[in-house]
Amino acid sequence: MNAWSGIPGASRLVVVSNRVAPITEGQPMAGGLAAGVMDALRQRGGLWFGWSGEIAEGAASASLREQAAGPVTLFTTDLSRADYDAFYRGFANGTLWPVLHGQTGLSRFDRAEFAGYRRVNAQFARSLAGLVRGNDLIWAHDYHLFCLADALRREGVGNRMGLFLHTPFPAPQVLMTVPVHAELIRALCQFDVIGFQTEADRTAFRDYVLRHGGGQPLTEDRLLAFGRLIDTGVYPIGVHVDEVRAQAIASANRPEAVALRRSLGDGALVMSVDRLDYSKGLRERFGAYERFLEQRPERRGRATFLQIAPPSRSDIETYQAIRRELEAEAGRINGRFAELDWMPIRYLNKGFPRSVLMPLYAEAQVGLVTPLRDGMNLVAKEYVAAQNPENPGVLVLSQFAGAACELDAALIVNPFDPAETAEALETALAMPLAERRERHTAMLQVMRRNSLDRWRDRFVADLAAPAQTASATPSWPGSAPPSRPFSVTRMPWTEAKPNV
Ligand code: UDP
Ligand code: G6P
Repeated sequence: MNAWSGIPGASRLVVVSNRVAPITEGQPMAGGLAAGVMDALRQRGGLWFGWSGEIAEGAASASLREQAAGPVTLFTTDLSRADYDAFYRGFANGTLWPVLHGQTGLSRFDRAEFAGYRRVNAQFARSLAGLVRGNDLIWAHDYHLFCLADALRREGVGNRMGLFLHTPFPAPQVLMTVPVHAELIRALCQFDVIGFQTEADRTAFRDYVLRHGGGQPLTEDRLLAFGRLIDTGVYPIGVHVDEVRAQAIASANRPEAVALRRSLGDGALVMSVDRLDYSKGLRERFGAYERFLEQRPERRGRATFLQIAPPSRSDIETYQAIRRELEAEAGRINGRFAELDWMPIRYLNKGFPRSVLMPLYAEAQVGLVTPLRDGMNLVAKEYVAAQNPENPGVLVLSQFAGAACELDAALIVNPFDPAETAEALETALAMPLAERRERHTAMLQVMRRNSLDRWRDRFVADLAAPAQTASATPSWPGSAPPSRPFSVTRMPWTEAKPNV
């Protein structure tokens, strides 16, 4: 049976990403991609292909493992040490990730690593070619797989293919610091649909293709580049709002939540949850909290900052450096302000399953989400969804998180300004109930409209419907002819029709 009954032609969905969700319930998620895709696939089913997270040598590294997780069939493959180093630690996370997040100074480049990146995209394509059927829709995710459609087409796969970018897309001059930018974007343009978190990301991509890639604009959604028609869209990823709240309620008496509540007494909790990544602005956040304690002596002993920061990509130098720095900073600030019965910062370098995180969010009077740059930031949305609507906490949110485009009822701050963040913390802690409820209601409304189901359904619908031929002759290698007029530009968060 095909669960994708809503898709014309009842195509099967084949999702491809480097990271896949842990198959065992109750494991911490490594990031928003795995969390979002798993939640989106859970109800509807599909095939999900990705890296096993393991390193293996020889023939073993290319073999596929198949596992069923409810309606999702997971196929995973290992990487060889050389591929892991060049592809994952190298080009994907050593070169692309910092550039996509505007941190060009932290990016390094090595041609051999780019060759490894292409090699792994080609290896994924070879394995997929054996799994894909005629009218499957192929939905790739994130910056690890920019060259996947190109590699699949070389394997003779002519299906419709889309890529959703979970990270920001930088301005052309920033992208061009990657020496192989032209080759990379040419390969990316082999996808039929490219999706972004925000309009700003889509615009930056279009700017690059039009000004530096010889592309032509056909509509606001559509480009002609490298002899192909490419549809672009804005699809802000969401969360299952009611499920998050239900989980927060159901798990309220889990030992972790009870222990936290007891330890706080009647003190306030400010909470942050981030992978330990330099893009998350933890250094600046610690600085802002220190300033808050300096300026608000009356809050000392009464407000605790809980930072959950599971280590991420810890075999990459830039990640080791930020970890060392944060350890020193947390120690210094605690040393400066701690009392016998109060520790200002609780800094935890470990991950928790989401069933534990949700009730913890609900305990916090303030959700402090201040990345320097972020594609979306699902933690911001989860924090809002987990709140008790009768007595909700306040979200303090960076203007540079994709989520700020939708959650403008949060207290929006510039994370590079510690004084502003410190001020917002005080405003949040002192905010009257009526204002908290008003802001929470407004954010919930937007999040219900832009739900996770809607993210999936809109992307898949655009992927399923081949675009209509515009002024130029498109290339449709091996796929069905165009069948539907193209859509107009969408601003998803301004659409009136709720999804639930
Ligand atoms: N997460 C988790 N356990 C943790 C920390 C985070 O399950 O200990 C989840 C979190 O609930 C969220 C995701 O990981 O769904 C993080 O996504 P986000 O978009 O905030 O950031 P990313 O890590 O993708 O940059
Ligand atoms: C972000 C990226 C994902 C990645 C995740 C965790 O969410 O957008 O592609 O999977 O971080 O990072 P990791 O390197 O552990 O997969």
